Parts: sequence; structure tokens; C-alpha cells
Amino acid sequence: MTIETIKKEFPIFSRRINGKPLVYLDNASTSQKPSAVLDALTNFYTTSNANIHRGIHTLSEEATERYEATRKSVARFINAAVAEEIVFTKNCTESINLVARTWGHASIRRGDHILVSALEHHANLIPWQELARKKHAKLFVIPLTSSFELDMEAYDKLLSRKTKIVCVTTQSNVIGTRPPMKEMIKKAHAVGARVMVDGAQSVGHQRTDVVSMGCDFFAFSAHKMLGPTGVGVLYADYDILETLQPFLYGGDMVTSVEREHAVYRDAPWRFEAGTPNIADVVAFRAAIEFLEEIGMDTIESHDARCVAAAREALAGFARVRVFAPESGASCVAFTVDGIHPHDVATIFNSEGVAIRSGLHCAEPLVKDLGVPALSRMSFYLYNTMEDVAVARQALEKVFRIFSLTSNP
Ligand SMILES: Cc1ncc(COP(=O)(O)O)c(C=O)c1O
Repeated sequence: MTIETIKKEFPIFSRRINGKPLVYLDNASTSQKPSAVLDALTNFYTTSNANIHRGIHTLSEEATERYEATRKSVARFINAAVAEEIVFTKNCTESINLVARTWGHASIRRGDHILVSALEHHANLIPWQELARKKHAKLFVIPLTSSFELDMEAYDKLLSRKTKIVCVTTQSNVIGTRPPMKEMIKKAHAVGARVMVDGAQSVGHQRTDVVSMGCDFFAFSAHKMLGPTGVGVLYADYDILETLQPFLYGGDMVTSVEREHAVYRDAPWRFEAGTPNIADVVAFRAAIEFLEEIGMDTIESHDARCVAAAREALAGFARVRVFAPESGASCVAFTVDGIHPHDVATIFNSEGVAIRSGLHCAEPLVKDLGVPALSRMSFYLYNTMEDVAVARQALEKVFRIFSLTSNP
């Protein structure tokens, strides 16, 4: 499929913004949805809508089958050993909180060390801050090098037998850094620590293999990978998952209930109390199939071409500073000297170009970078070289409006 053919699968691209064709470069926030996903959602509600796991009528059985089929697709997509290692949550944030509240509550003791990387989104930072506070544990940060990579020497020094968990993203949502996951996980395991991997930014952009990566926990959201909002995934090694206590209590997570106590179901259903987001989970399968059809390696190299083109476009401007490490993937963060990123984003929007500006839910990282805020272009499988060219023109407009010269 050509990029143009792929783009046609996404109805939103027939929209115009401020009279201009939509150029969507805010994919790290959320992705657009292909017709296959929208159709799957409508199809579920129009043909199989019923609650799951509790009815013996046809619709309930169909709904259960379709919901559980997505679990199998997710397991295949990330190469989990069995579908039972996949827990559905409402988003990546909830998946990480689940680990902090269940595994963390049971395992962290006074004086233990929790390591987080300097790259973390608030979702993989604040749950660990809270856990450290409640348990009187210590939170340490793996810093960045001057080239925006994680400082592996500092990591080696921070790791010790006191380290109980290392929390790290596969890909920064701000600057695109991809830490060396396998190496980090191997070293963490060597001191007996668990590893919580935040896969939100990479899982829809590169091939994921949780087994070869070796992580203990891997969290992500469907909405960043063409799927609907309201669906998150937690992968956990089953040997760990089956030892964890539930996170929420109520219907559908029990095998028997007395007035005084209840017996809980096995994992993963033990963690899915109440009626889950059935329709969106069902539609998520269509997103996975769409990605599989195109191929994750194809998507990864397409992203890399977009990033290279964007960096080249930005390099032509004086006053533009790019924050991009060697390993940087899928996005390009930048500042324009003397102009607030919100002004940059507003002018881009006037040209139909959606970019993100601000702190990107990673306030400590942005502070480490020494800037008050950043603009970010983030790419996905439907972005074209024409999109990059339009973004470049929008940047020229920024310079015109602020009467700045764009040439070095
Ligand atoms: C790296 C990273 N982790 C976690 C999240 C949180 O995802 P969600 O808001 O879907 O829970 C995001 C969202 O931008 C992210 O980029």
C-alpha cells in the first residue's frame, strides 16, 4: 500500500482545518482511526452488543468471544507467551497504576530503591513517587547525557541489591529517545529488580517482543496505535501476574462470593472487575490487524523517513533548536528562540497543521532540557513528505509573523 492509499483509509483526512487540508502531526498524543476500526465499533453495537462472561444467550457468547479474541490478538502482536498475560485496563496510565498498587504494595519495603528514568511521562513517574512516599522507599532518577540519551554509566551506579524496580519507557514521548531496553532489563534482573516498561510510544511504531525484551511488565494504550480510546493493556509475565491481588473489586472478577468473603478468578480476569469497555476492546482488534497488514518494520522505517525529513527541514532555520538524540524515533521536538511554543502551535494550526506544544506530561524532563516548553511534531504511517513540506511552510509563517529572519 502506498502512503496515499493508507491515508484514504482514515476518514478524518477529508476534514479541513481553517480552510486547509488537515496535516496531523500530533500522533504521540493519539493516533487517528481507520475505517476498519470505526466499522468494527459500529458492527459490534449493531450485531453483537451484550455484556460478557455472564450470559448464556447467543449475543453474550458472541460478545465474550469477540472480546477474548482481542486478548489473543494483543498477545500475538507483542509476542506474549499466552493470552492470559494480557490484562485490559482503560489506558496505559491505569496499567502502570495497577502494577504500582498491586505488585508495588506487596513488594516495596522501607528503604527499598525505585529507579525511574529522566525520560518518563508522568504516567510512569507519579505512581512510583506515590508508592515511594507511602512505603518510605527511595526514588532515584537515571539522568540524561548531553546527547539526550539515558546515561548508562549513571544507571550502573544507581543499580544495587536495594533496587526493587526499574521504570523506563521504550520511547520518550517528547524527544523520541529509545533506551537500550534489553541491556537495561538484563542489568536490573542481575540485581533482582523487576522492570516496568512503558511501551505507550513504541508499541504502534516498531515490532514488540516482550519475551526477547525480557520485561516483567509492559503497559500501553490502544488509542496511540489506531485503536479506540478507553482501552489500555498491561502485559505481565504470568508467574508474576498470578501472584498479584486484585486492583478493583466487584462483579465478574470472582468465582464465588459469601457475605463475608469472596474467591477471586484467575488472572487476567481477576483484574477486570465490572463491565469493561467491551466494544472498544473488540474494535481494537481491527487496529492490530491493520498494523499487522502493513507491517511494523514498514511503519518503523516510514517514521524514520518522516523524522529525517522534518529534521532536515528544521535545520534550515536560524533560531530553531532541535532536541533529538541519535536513537530518536517518531517525533521531533523543537523550540524557536524568542517565541513561545503555544504561539508556534497556534500559527501551525492556522495552516491546518496539528502539533503539540507545552510540557507534554513530562514536566521534569522538559525542565532538564532547560526550556520552559517545547513544540513537537510526531509522525505515523499516514504522514507524507507533503505533510512535512506544509509544516515547513507553517514555520516560515511563524518567522514572518514575528518579523524574524529564518536564515542562519
Ligand atoms: C510515554 C507515555 N506513557 C504513558 C502515556 C499515558 O497514556 P494514556 O494517557 O493513554 O494513559 C503516554 C501518553 O501520552 C505516553 O506518551
